[in-house]
Amino acid sequence: MSERIELSPELEENLVAYAKKAMENAYAPYSNFKVGAALLTADGNIYMGCNIENSSYGATNCAERTAIFKAVSEGHRKFYAIAIVGGKNGEITGICQPCGICRQVMSEFCDENFIVLLGHQNGYKKYTLEELFPLTFHLL
Ligand code: THU
Repeated sequence: MSERIELSPELEENLVAYAKKAMENAYAPYSNFKVGAALLTADGNIYMGCNIENSSYGATNCAERTAIFKAVSEGHRKFYAIAIVGGKNGEITGICQPCGICRQVMSEFCDENFIVLLGHQNGYKKYTLEELFPLTFHLL
């Protein structure tokens, strides 16, 4: 088991706010489902991401992977938490659970204690990656 990270409520709320901000840039003309993510690196940086759709649907990139790929491409490999929000037409009602591909990508870089904050209309729910994606596949 790796170390369990505790974030202050202020930082958690901040991450959810960044995810909402990121959602404003979502490019989702096909589904109209807008998603935003904010990823906290171990050294305290926050990387934002949004979903970016494509007319060839399979080329779409989810918000979570946009944030993770941005961070990794800039040299970050250790992450503490991600906040995710989403909704039809950018209206946040319930939580937006990360898809299976994004959970797999999280598991490549994040350990079982990685915190996943799912924002909703009046707050957020908090999970660990282990809760969302147990029995992970690994080659390394
Ligand atoms: N989407 C995300 O950005 N993240 C997820 O985890 C689930 C789905 C996006 C992809 C697509 O642009 C839209 O939501 C509808 O599937």
